[in-house]
Amino acid sequence: MGLFLQVFTVLVITVSLQGWLPLGCLEEERIALLHLKDSLNYPNGTSLPSWIKADAHCCDWESIVCNSSTGRVTRLYLDSVRNQELGDWYLNASLFLPFQQLNTLSLWNNSIAGWVENKGLLS
Ligand SMILES: *[C@@H]1O[C@H](CO)[C@@H](O)[C@H](O)[C@H]1NC(C)=O
Ligand SMILES: *[C@@H]1O[C@H](CO)[C@@H](O)[C@H](O)[C@H]1NC(C)=O
Ligand SMILES: *[C@@H]1O[C@H](CO)[C@@H](O)[C@H](O)[C@H]1NC(C)=O
Ligand SMILES: *[C@@H]1O[C@H](CO)[C@@H](O)[C@H](O)[C@H]1NC(C)=O
Repeated sequence: MGLFLQVFTVLVITVSLQGWLPLGCLEEERIALLHLKDSLNYPNGTSLPSWIKADAHCCDWESIVCNSSTGRVTRLYLDSVRNQELGDWYLNASLFLPFQQLNTLSLWNNSIAGWVENKGLLS
């Protein structure tokens, strides 16, 4: 019984650590990544297929580098990912606010035309 409890405790601790640490990622950042994907693919693009809502391990998704001790996203390499036929992309700066440790953001060649707040003024 004592051994059973010890094994059980180790299992529970292992499982709960995996909720946060390297394999997983922070829930607020995972949600923000999914919002970023929606924006990038609006209205019907097909980019970043490995960024999947049902997958908790966002540090393993394509084009993402996380800090292995904090589990936070540190780099996003999103060059040339947007489907060209979608046309201009207006970025919403608020999409990036949840990423507190982000230090590299690469967005070349995605038809970025401006910020979403300006869209009404320009068109
Ligand atoms: C997206 O919608 C446009 C216009 O309705 C259509 O021409 C295009 O084939 C669609 N693209 C995809 C990947 O479904
Ligand atoms: C990861 O984050 C920790 C805590 O902020 C920092 O000390 C460390 O230098 C970071 N590691 C890398 C590789 O950026
Ligand atoms: C820009 O991205 C498209 C794919 O969206 C790619 O076919 C094209 O080669 C890229 N252009 C440059 C200059 O990287
Ligand atoms: C920008 O993103 C924020 C956070 O997701 C949202 O609340 C806001 O409505 C967006 N702004 C526009 C103009 O879409």
